[in-house]
Amino acid sequence: MKLSLLSSAVLGVAAVNALEVIEAKGNKFFDAKGNQFFMKGIAYQLTPASPVPRSHIRVDDPLVDAEQCSRDASLMKTLGANCIRVYHVDPSKDHSKCMATFADAGIYTLIDLDTFDTYILPNDPWWNQTQHDRYAEVMDAFIDYDNVLGFFVGNEIIAMANQSQAAPFIKTASRDMKAYRDKKGYRKVPIGYSAADIAELRPMLQDYLTCGGNPADNVDFFALNSYEWCDPSKYETSGYANLQKGAENFPVPIFFSETGCNVPGPRLFDDQDAIFGPEMVDHWSGSIVYEWIEEANHYGLISYGPKVEPTVTGKNIEGEFTRAGTPTPVSPDFYNLKSKWATITPKSVALADYKPTALSTRDCPTSTASGWLVNGNVALPTVGETYSGTFTPAPTASNTDTAGNAASPSSTNNPAPVNKEIAGMSAGLVGVMLFFTFWL
Ligand SMILES: *[C@@H]1O[C@H](CO)[C@@H](O)[C@H](O)[C@H]1NC(C)=O
Ligand SMILES: *[C@@H]1O[C@H](CO)[C@@H](O)[C@H](O)[C@H]1NC(C)=O
Repeated sequence: MKLSLLSSAVLGVAAVNALEVIEAKGNKFFDAKGNQFFMKGIAYQLTPASPVPRSHIRVDDPLVDAEQCSRDASLMKTLGANCIRVYHVDPSKDHSKCMATFADAGIYTLIDLDTFDTYILPNDPWWNQTQHDRYAEVMDAFIDYDNVLGFFVGNEIIAMANQSQAAPFIKTASRDMKAYRDKKGYRKVPIGYSAADIAELRPMLQDYLTCGGNPADNVDFFALNSYEWCDPSKYETSGYANLQKGAENFPVPIFFSETGCNVPGPRLFDDQDAIFGPEMVDHWSGSIVYEWIEEANHYGLISYGPKVEPTVTGKNIEGEFTRAGTPTPVSPDFYNLKSKWATITPKSVALADYKPTALSTRDCPTSTASGWLVNGNVALPTVGETYSGTFTPAPTASNTDTAGNAASPSSTNNPAPVNKEIAGMSAGLVGVMLFFTFWL
C-alpha cells in the first residue's frame, strides 16, 4: 500500500485500490482480512525466441513498460484474472508503474527470483554467492509492493527424470532466500518452487522439498507446471485424480504454476472446474494459465498482431511475432477462459475458521530405481557448493517411509506426461538449459 500510494502520488495516476497482502497459513493462502485466496492467474512473459548463450539472453522484463502493462492489465481484469506470473525480471529497472497498474486492476504477481543468467543448472548444479546475491536483488526490488504474492527460486530446473540430483540445490536456494527475507525483516512473502510435471519424480520431489521437519529448510509452497488435462477430458481420466492423491493434505500450499494444454484445441479450460471443484478445492490454491501472449507455441490468450514473415525484423518483433502493442483476444480461447472463470466461485474457508490440523508431514523419500536420486534427508549444500556426485545424510536423517506409498512413484495410472510440458511452454527454456549444459 505504501508504495502504491507513493507511486500514484509521484506519477499522478488515479487513486489506487490497495490490495491486501497475502501470506501462507497451513496449506492455504489468506489475505490480511482473513479471506482465503485462490489464484486465477496468467503467465505473463515471452519465452526467448531461440537458445542464446547464457550471458547474452535479452532480459525481456514485462514489468517495465508502463503503457504496455496498462493495456494488458485492463484486459486481464476483463478476463477475470487475479494474478500474473513473471519468469525473469531485471532488478535494476523501475517497476513501480507496472506494479501499481496491476494492483489497481486487482492483480497480484508471482516473481521468479532467478535472473536469466543465474538459475540453477540441472546436470551440474551449484549454488554460490553470485546466485544468492542476484536472487536477493530481485527480492529487494519487489518486496515493498503489496501485490507481490510469491517468489519462485526456480522454474523446471529439473526438466528430466534423471536430474533429481539438483533437488537439494533447489531446497538450499529456497532456504537461503527465506533466511535472507527474514534477516532483512521483510514481509513474509511465500517462497517456493515451480516444478515440471515428471511422472517418475512424482511425488518424491514435492515431498522432498517439504520433508525433514525443519520449516526453515522447506519451501513455503510447491507449484506444478502440468499440461495433463487436454480438453475434452474429465477429472478421473485426465491425470488430475492422481495429482490430487499426491496433494492430499499437503503441508504447504500447492497450486498449478502453469496449466492449459492446447491440443487438440480449442481449449475449454474444463480443468478449472476440477481445480476449484469439490475434489480438489480443499487442497489446491488455484492455477496459473499458460499464457498471455501468442507466440510460436500457440498458447497465447491474446495477440499483439498477426504472425510476420521470418525475414521481418523491427522493434518488438521477435520469433515472427509482435511482442508489444494492443492486446486482442485470441478466439475462442480467451472467451472460453473468461466464461469459465466467471462461473467459478471456489468454496473457501476464513482464516478464523481454519485449523490446519489435518495437514500431513512428508517423509524424505528414499532413492528409487526409477529415478529419484536423493536418498532420504541429505545435508543441504552450503553456499559455494557444487554437486560432487553424492550427498551426505543430514544429521537428523529420517529414512523411514512411514507414509507407505509416499515414496513410491505414483505414475502408473497416468503414465509419462514427461514431455508434455516440454512440448508446451518450456520448449524455449528447456532448450536454453540444454544448450547451456553443452555450452558451459
Ligand atoms: C558462481 O558461479 C558462476 C558460474 O560458474 C561464476 O561465474 C561466479 O563467479 C561464481 N561466483 C562466485 C562468488 O564464486
Ligand atoms: C538423461 O536422460 C536424457 C533423456 O532420456 C538422456 O538424453 C541423457 O543422456 C540422460 N543423462 C544422463 C546423465 O544419463
